Amino acid sequence: MSEDLRLETASSLDGAAASADEVLALAARAAEADGVEAISEAFRLALTSGRGEVTHTLAYSGQSLAGYAARDASGSAELVVDPPSRRHGVGRALLRSVLDAGASGVWAHGDLPAAQALATSEGLVSTRELHVMERPVRDGDDGDPELPEGFSVRAFEPGRDEQAWLDVNRLAFASHPEQGSITLEDLQERMAQDWFDPAGFLLVEDTTVTQDGGAHPLAAFHWTKREPDSDTGEVYVVGVHPAYQGRGLAGPLTGLGTAHLARSGVTTIELYVDGDNTRALATYRRAGFEDAAVHVVYGHSSAP
Ligand SMILES: CC(C)(COP(=O)(O)OP(=O)(O)OC[C@H]1O[C@@H](n2cnc3c(N)ncnc32)[C@H](O)[C@@H]1OP(=O)(O)O)[C@@H](O)C(=O)NCCC(=O)NCCS
Repeated sequence: MSEDLRLETASSLDGAAASADEVLALAARAAEADGVEAISEAFRLALTSGRGEVTHTLAYSGQSLAGYAARDASGSAELVVDPPSRRHGVGRALLRSVLDAGASGVWAHGDLPAAQALATSEGLVSTRELHVMERPVRDGDDGDPELPEGFSVRAFEPGRDEQAWLDVNRLAFASHPEQGSITLEDLQERMAQDWFDPAGFLLVEDTTVTQDGGAHPLAAFHWTKREPDSDTGEVYVVGVHPAYQGRGLAGPLTGLGTAHLARSGVTTIELYVDGDNTRALATYRRAGFEDAAVHVVYGHSSAP
């Protein structure tokens, strides 16, 4: 480690020598150089809102910010080094710092050669893979597919559908910790983003059952995302209530969201899916998606 390298760890950047804006600017320079964002949406939101149990580690070379690492309460960490400050030991110092502090896994978005080399040289192995899949929008994508008998689709209504969605999301993602543990506050934070559009948040209901008050139970959902003016739309979250799995909903559910995105005018559709989620991978491959990148979590092989 170079002699003038200093690490500062804090639960908030309020009293830190570097501001959230400086960290975001560093991350933007890295993304420009690497072609991939090192710091994911959840950590970027935590930086700007100050919310969430995130521990920040800032690396300074002399007076200037050279790198940044973040770790959340689940032990997931990310780190990034400013491109001009690379190959001076900053990344290794940040990596050791987050691991010493209890991080169980460090994300390497895009699994870049530098990250692979650093992780391997610290004795870490790949413990999880997240696939980024994409496909171009084609003629005919803008038509809605037919749902199986007994189901209908409508758009999410803010103020009415939050709890039902949280319940189904938790059940559908019981084995996917990040997505399954989303709270009402997390949902509302996403609903406050400029990309949020209830018309692209599709709810599939079981019309054969009517609950008190006349509502139908939520069976599945497809939440799409499109940043304002972007040519790319995202299959943001797709979930099927466990009681409705295996009934042929996955394919049409995927198609409803891609049709919505196609009508909104995007030219490419992308999505993120865990490497161990074989059923989802198969659904998306059948829908024409192919791997565009793979993000890897590095950790000790004994980590759960
Ligand atoms: C990966 C990253 C954090 C490395 O930061 P860094 O400050 O350049 O890393 P260090 O100087 O501490 O390098 C430590 C070791 O990693 C390996 N390494 C780092 N960059 C490398 C490269 N471009 N090619 C080959 N090996 C590399 C080397 O073994 C190096 O040791 P050495 O310099 O003694 O040979 C940086 O490239 C980065 O910010 N990448 C984008 C974000 C990312 O991938 N984060 C995930 C990290 S697991």
